[in-house]
This record gives sequence, structure tokens and C-alpha cells, in this order.
Amino acid sequence: MVRRAAVVGAGSSGLACIKICVDEGLEPVCFESSDDIGGMWRFKESPVPEQSSIYRSLVVNTSKEMMCFSDFPMPAEYPNYMHHSQLLKYFRLYAEHFQLLRYINFQTTVRSVTQRPDFSLSGQWDIVTINRDGEEERHVFDAVLVCKGPNTHPVLPLSDFPGHETFSGRCLHSWEYKDADACRGKRVVVVGIGNSGGDIAVEISRSADKTFLSTRQGAWVMSRASTSGLPVDMTHITRLNNMLTLLLPKTLVNWTTERALNHKYDHGLYGLKPRHRFLDQSPLINDDLPGRILQGAVVMRPNLKGFVESGVVFEDGTVEGNIDAVLFCTGYIGKFPFLPPALSEGIHEELILYKRLFPPSLQHPTLAIVGHFRTKGPVMPIVEMQARWAVKVFSGLKHLPSKEKMLEVIETERQRMMKSYPCPRQAAFQVDYIPYLDFMAKEVGVLPNLLTLLLRDPQLWVKVFFGPCTPYQYRLTGPGQWAGARHAILSQWKRVAQPFKTRAVPELKTKQSVLTLPWLLTFGGSVIMAVLCLKLSFQCFRVRDIRLTG
Ligand SMILES: Cc1cc2nc3c(=O)[nH]c(=O)nc-3n(C[C@H](O)[C@H](O)[C@H](O)COP(=O)(O)OP(=O)(O)OC[C@H]3O[C@@H](n4cnc5c(N)ncnc54)[C@H](O)[C@@H]3O)c2cc1C
Ligand SMILES: *[C@@H]1O[C@H](CO)[C@@H](O)[C@H](O)[C@H]1NC(C)=O
Ligand SMILES: *[C@@H]1O[C@H](CO)[C@@H](O)[C@H](O)[C@H]1NC(C)=O
Repeated sequence: MVRRAAVVGAGSSGLACIKICVDEGLEPVCFESSDDIGGMWRFKESPVPEQSSIYRSLVVNTSKEMMCFSDFPMPAEYPNYMHHSQLLKYFRLYAEHFQLLRYINFQTTVRSVTQRPDFSLSGQWDIVTINRDGEEERHVFDAVLVCKGPNTHPVLPLSDFPGHETFSGRCLHSWEYKDADACRGKRVVVVGIGNSGGDIAVEISRSADKTFLSTRQGAWVMSRASTSGLPVDMTHITRLNNMLTLLLPKTLVNWTTERALNHKYDHGLYGLKPRHRFLDQSPLINDDLPGRILQGAVVMRPNLKGFVESGVVFEDGTVEGNIDAVLFCTGYIGKFPFLPPALSEGIHEELILYKRLFPPSLQHPTLAIVGHFRTKGPVMPIVEMQARWAVKVFSGLKHLPSKEKMLEVIETERQRMMKSYPCPRQAAFQVDYIPYLDFMAKEVGVLPNLLTLLLRDPQLWVKVFFGPCTPYQYRLTGPGQWAGARHAILSQWKRVAQPFKTRAVPELKTKQSVLTLPWLLTFGGSVIMAVLCLKLSFQCFRVRDIRLTG
């Protein structure tokens, strides 16, 4: 009988896990090594070892309606893409509303999580923590949710670049970067074109004398603002698009999207053009980078090759002298120092996880690693669904396949992702946003049935199928149903518009166009869609099953 669950970490993932445990009748006990909630979203003036760290100007790259928890929409007046400090406020509201703080033990660090000697019978875990006075405490738990965050151990690949020992400038990782104050008048190289690399290069270029952005891969760059200036994730992450991506030839999808992006700025001309096609990897979400390249403030360069005394060499042989600093935006490695080493069974000693959640080798599935994945959408709704599924599995209400079957699924999924992500570690990390959420939702019993929805509530169906796949969709039916979900979906565009209403304008055109497009689509094509839906839902689920379970 699973009763008490430990939650390691009180960042956004930990908070969601505590809440879900309470919902499902488990007693959560959360351990948080710092003295506050929020994890990486709580800004610190200087980085703390083994904790995530963000820069002062960070603004989220997912919009508020997409990234909120499924039964707690963000306040209507919040901007659609907010500063990190505002997101932390939202997490405080969430913790307060659901009274989560009382379950958290602050300044308590988890040192080890090990199977109890009678694990094969009980499925229980021994947890050792260090409290604020430095004293060790031992606890026994029926289940564990690990939410320690993926961005704690920066990767600084200095040894890949000969000459770094004698380089006269500074080398640092984005983990240490807070703002561009120290860059005034300097010459700086930023390595890596992930979201951090793009942001930081743009910011530095406003103070520095010259900023070079070095990338091996290049990137497709998308702005946060899509058609009519609406949040790009809301216009792109829809069930309609998901279905089209499954059914249409990939080449066509690549081609049309790349054409649209090149129409805005020619990625070849700007030196941004990647080797990979659009669908293959996550695009870079950045509103300013092309503009800074256009102004000559950011200079694109190929991969770094090495260092010379006071400068750097790039792979095309070009040398830039008098470089004051090289900033590596080269990401993080997931480390779990407190877990049994036997769980890290991958060839790179990484955790192998079934559906990015469960270690397949455990006799009892009473431990889950939450938030240890990457996706082309917001993280929070996935984490929340992971928690809902994990708790069902802990309680024995849902079962996992056999160990062999799980390993097989892990391997086929990795192979499939390898086609896009050449690095096996990256490939194993990636999940497809809607398919992954839907898979878990089906397990939990909360996947909205589109056909019944169409017949019962066509107005809502339109929003669910054509509109953004907002997390409220997973609160419409089944266990954990929320009475406010339908209204939250019907009013989502109102909350998008709210923060813009700071000046009365003669006529609000955007609102109209948002409402009329789906309506035109329904009344114009409802008959066709119904038939198509019936036919395709069979096909589509078959495709989806193959994709998900191998
Ligand atoms: C620069 C950057 C920008 C991002 N922007 C977005 C975005 O816009 N949208 C989005 O959806 N995602 C974004 N992400 C992804 C982000 O990682 C997740 O959104 C998410 O917030 C991570 O939350 P978490 O709770 O899993 O981890 P964290 O926020 O890191 O929290 C982990 C917590 O666990 C605690 N902890 C760690 N080890 C222990 C231990 N041994 N014992 C006790 N406590 C421990 C830590 O103190 C911390 O409080 C971004 C990531 C980065 C790096
Ligand atoms: C947002 O930025 C983080 C940090 O760089 C990145 O991991 C994530 O994939 C980005 N999300 C999207 C949707 O681009
Ligand atoms: C288009 O996208 C898919 C994404 O998975 C990729 O496998 C395919 O090779 C791409 N390329 C072309 C030419 O369309």
C-alpha cells in the first residue's frame, strides 16, 4: 500500500508533484535544499554550485496560456511572455492556492535514495537527508518523485579546444553569466546557439565592442510573435497541426515552414542556416538576433577550433584576436548524485528511462524521475502529467510493461529520434509535445475524446481541435477533472488579449480575427471534417501507437 511519497526539490516540478500527490490521496513530503520554492526561477546574484542559475534579463520562451498548470490559469493581466520574476510570482500563487508550503522541508538536502533491504517485497526506499543544522536524518518512503532539475551541472567542453591553457582572456559558462555589465567595450565570443546562447549574444552585443556567435549547427530562428503578433506556441502547438504533421509528407512540412522562416530573413544570407531541416530539431526562439546581425553587432562564425594566446581560431581558419572573453552556452548534463549508481545504466552512465520517467530495471515501479526530458513546447504541463501518471503507477492503478518490453520501447524511440538528433544522448532526451502528453493522458484516463466532444459540445471541440493545445484540455474528463476547464479553454484568448489593453484603440481587430477563423472553419467544413475525423482517427491512432510503443 503506497501512502507516503518523497518529493526531491521544490522547483516548478516539485510543486506540481506535491499537488498531484495530495489530489491522489498520497502524503507528500518534499525536501528542498534551498530556503525557498521556485528552483531555477528564483534569481540569485551569483551562481550556487549544484543549483541552476539564470541571467537577470531572462524572459520565458513559452507563453502563459501554454505553460501554466492545467487547473490554475495565469492571471489575465500577466504578459504573454513574462520575465522570470513574474513566473516565480505565479509559482508562489500556485503554492499558496493549493497550500503546498506545509509539505516542504526547506534547507534539507537529499543525500541518498536507496532501495530498502526488503525492497523486493515492500518497494520502499531509504532516504538520507541533511538538515539545516548539518544533521543527518533517515526516512522511509513508499515512493519517490525526483524533481531536482536538469540544469545544475554545466558542460564546459574546454578540453575540446587546444590552447585554452594559455588563453589570456576569460572562459566561462552561461551558468555563471548574469548580465553584460562587464562586457562594455570588450570583444566577446559566444559559443553555442541554444536559447541561452542567442539571448546572451544579443544582450552582450548591446554593451560589447564586438560579439561573435560561434555555432557548429546553426538554427532556424523563430520569433515569439507569430501571425498577427500572437504567441507562436499557441498558433503552432495545435491538434490540427499535430495531425497534419503525422499525415503529411515530412518534406512538405519542412519545406513550407523553412520557406516561411526564410521569407522573414534569409537564413543563408544571415549565416544562420542549419544543416538540419526544420522538423528535425528545436528552433531557436529569439526576437532580436537577426536584427543584431543586420546591424553588424553580432557576427556569425562557425564552430570554435581552438585558442591562440589572446584570440580564437574558428573551424574555417579565421582568427579573431584580442578576445577578452569566451562564453560557452553549451548546456548541462543531468546528474543524480544521490541515486543508486545501478540506475545509471546507459553507456554514458546516464539514466535510462521508460517514457522519460521510470527506470525500467526496478522490481517495483516506485520511483520516477520528473522533468528529465526536452521538448519543443513548455515543460510544466508535461511535468504535471508525468506526476499524474507516476502516482497512478505507484498506487498500482496502472501497470508498466515488463522490463524487456520497456527496454525495447526505449531503444525504438531512441532510434527514431536518432534520425533527427545525431547525438544519442540528445536523442534519448527528446519527446514530441502533443503525442507524449496524449500518451500519458490516455494512461491516466484523461485524454479528451474528440469524437464525443464534437457531438456533445461543438463549440468546445473547435477550440480543442483547431486551437492551441492548452493544458486545460487534460482536465475536461476523467480522474482529476476540473469544473473550470471548459471555461478556461473558451476564455484563453481573452487572457491573451488582456495585457495588451493598456490603451483604448478605435477598433480591436485582432480579437475579431481570432474568433472568426475557427468559426469559418467549422461552419464551412464541419461535414467534411466529421467524415475525415472518423476515417483519420483510426489511421492516426495506429500511426501514433506505432510511434509511441514501437
Ligand atoms: C535558461 C533556461 C530557460 C528556460 N526557459 C523555459 C521556458 O521559457 N519555458 C519552459 O517551459 N521551460 C524553460 N526551461 C526549462 C526549465 O528547466 C523547466 O521549465 C523547469 O522550470 C525546471 O524546473 P524543475 O523544478 O524541474 O527544476 P529546478 O527549477 O532546477 O528546481 C529543482 C529544485 O530541486 C532542488 N534540489 C536539487 N537537488 C536537491 C537535493 N539533493 N535535495 C533537495 N533539493 C534539491 C533545487 O534546490 C531546486 O529548488 C528553461 C531552462 C533554462 C535553463
Ligand atoms: C526555452 O529555453 C530553454 C533553455 O534554453 C530550452 O531548453 C527550451 O527548449 C526552450 N523552449 C522552447 C519551446 O524553445
Ligand atoms: C523533414 O523532416 C523530417 C523530420 O523528422 C526529416 O526526417 C526529413 O529528413 C526532413 N527532410 C526532408 C528532405 O524533407
